[in-house]
Amino acid sequence: MKTILVTGGAGYIGSLTTIELLIANYEVVVLDNLSNSSPEALRRVQNISGEELAFYKADLLDRPALESIFKAHKFDAVIHFAGLKAVGESVQEPVRYYHNNVTGSLTLFSVMAEYEVRNIVFSSSATVYGDPDSVPVNEEASLRPTNPYGWTKLMIEQILRDQHVADPDWNAILLRYFNPVGAHPSGELGESPRGAPNNLMPYLAQVAVGRRPNLQIYGNDYDTPDGTGVRDYIHVSDLAKGHLAALRRLKQGGGVEAFNLGTGRGYSVMEMVKAFEKASGKEIPYNVVARRSGDIATSFADPTKAHRDLNWEAEKGLDEMCVDLWRWQSKYPEGLQ
Ligand code: NAD
Ligand code: UD1
Repeated sequence: MKTILVTGGAGYIGSLTTIELLIANYEVVVLDNLSNSSPEALRRVQNISGEELAFYKADLLDRPALESIFKAHKFDAVIHFAGLKAVGESVQEPVRYYHNNVTGSLTLFSVMAEYEVRNIVFSSSATVYGDPDSVPVNEEASLRPTNPYGWTKLMIEQILRDQHVADPDWNAILLRYFNPVGAHPSGELGESPRGAPNNLMPYLAQVAVGRRPNLQIYGNDYDTPDGTGVRDYIHVSDLAKGHLAALRRLKQGGGVEAFNLGTGRGYSVMEMVKAFEKASGKEIPYNVVARRSGDIATSFADPTKAHRDLNWEAEKGLDEMCVDLWRWQSKYPEGLQ
């Protein structure tokens, strides 16, 4: 495994993973249409790592563009991050989500097959579990997404399983991320949401930096210790390292395998507010509003399988997640332009 195609490599998780790949001496080619990211991210990736990468501004749906990239490079594996990820938007515009994520992935897989690239790491999500029957959630739990975004993830997982049946030389690692948060410890790169953030931590960070007046907590009447929702937040740098562990696993073959990437520990919204206040030294004004439709009370991972088979484990705790996020947010209040 030497040369890796990273789709969506200019995005939040893709750019942080590309740093780790470059530091580990992989050759990296990034494909991104920049629909939710900025080329500045890739400039920073190169600055931080001290290494160069190749970049193609291209859309997954553009088959001729993909072919010319596969013609120009001999890839050992693909890490496939590219996709649309806003749950609410996926409910409003399902066709756009299915087309971008599923058709885009099909186009990629068909070009991979044509060029005999048969190793892939796919960015799946804990959202494939829907509302789990019990926690912690392991990889054998029922798969029942509750929104179009989640369905695109499950469909792509299934396509890869079917492709392995048709051609056993295909290997795929499906990484089901829990809640990625934080930023690169340098403070130079992190999440840069366009418009109002949908997720808790970027929203909290924008309140702390003064871009938004207050946080709205979506319900405090859940069946949880303090009534607010509980999630498994994982530092994005730990998540990035999980992809290197997945590449090492792919080298051994193994067909299609799914892994939870989480810490195994859940924190409530109130605990996150307190932790972020401590990290930032800012008070976070909040008010409690109605539950957000589609939200669940509690979700956290059983990460035993990733520990056992990938030799990977999250190392960074809640304080580091908050301190790193605050370093990035306070240095670049408007994110990347
Ligand atoms: P992101 O939006 O920051 O990155 C995705 C990148 O893909 C963006 O740079 C975007 O421009 C690009 N892209 C989208 N559609 C494309 C297309 N058709 N062709 C080429 N490029 C395209 O998102 P992220 O948070 O870095 O997430 C990366 C992956 O991880 C996504 O697949 C997402 O669904 C998945 N995931 C994210 C989270 C999370 O909370 N961030 C959780 C679980 C899973
Ligand atoms: C969201 C996505 C999910 C995705 C996950 C990881 C939805 C419905 N689900 O889930 O598919 O896999 O992100 O990226 O969007 N909260 C507030 N106020 C806010 C924002 C959030 O109180 O302004 C609460 C939520 O109710 C929840 C917790 O904070 O209890 C975390 O929310 P969020 O960061 O959006 O993540 P998920 O709900 O886990």
